[in-house]
Amino acid sequence: MRPVIIAGNWKMYKTKSEAEELVNSILAAIAELGNLPCVVLCPPFTALETVVQLVQARGIEVGAQNIDYHDAGAYTGEISAPMLTHLGVKYVILGHSERRQYFGETNASVNLKLKASLKHHLVPIVCVGETVDEREAGLTDAVVSRQVAAALSDVSATELSSLIIAYEPVWAIGTGAVCEPVEANRVAQLIRGTINNLYHKKDFAEAVPILYGGSVKAATIEEQLAQSDIDGALVGGASLKAEEFVPLIQAGCKKVCLTVPKT
Ligand code: PGA
Repeated sequence: MRPVIIAGNWKMYKTKSEAEELVNSILAAIAELGNLPCVVLCPPFTALETVVQLVQARGIEVGAQNIDYHDAGAYTGEISAPMLTHLGVKYVILGHSERRQYFGETNASVNLKLKASLKHHLVPIVCVGETVDEREAGLTDAVVSRQVAAALSDVSATELSSLIIAYEPVWAIGTGAVCEPVEANRVAQLIRGTINNLYHKKDFAEAVPILYGGSVKAATIEEQLAQSDIDGALVGGASLKAEEFVPLIQAGCKKVCLTVPKT
């Protein structure tokens, strides 16, 4: 049984006080909801501690948007996994396409960061996805499989206590263009197949939660979550306003209801 996960990637938005306001609005709106999915808020570093404190004991988790793979050292401007876990951060987004595009993130650096996050018990949300040129050239499957395999290079099945993959087609991020749910599901299955080929453990590949990301919004999320291999969403723009994010959490609640075994 895979968890349903609704994660908000706030990117470089929200000061500490804006973060407080947003979290308080979300908490107020979901106070009465039952069957909550796993909600993960990923604010910028400067708001992490504030958000951790606000959501503590409310069943909501907090994630960072990046780490450096060293534990500590002379790496000006960087933040390590132990610094985050010390604050109560439990998740980290790795290999987001914006980091690949603007900050020189590579499959190799994603792999190093993945290993550092596992070492420190931070749950990695590894982002993979093709650009529009790659899709048009028919390279989607090759690119996504390569990204998944590279991220997991030299990582044993036992080391991978927890792992989340987010399929985020680059052309769908922040553009309003949404990948057809059936196609996103096909790629999610391809990701499971890749993991199965790497570890030869079908159960293991079946247990990895796979999120869809790219212009997720209230109007489209239900069809996305209705897919067999899509276990949640990684949400950018629509995670920045409570009135847009809460309906996504509600859609997650519905999927939780449908997946919880009836006793
Ligand atoms: P978007 O961003 O929902 O604004 O498309 C998704 C992401 O970047 O993770």
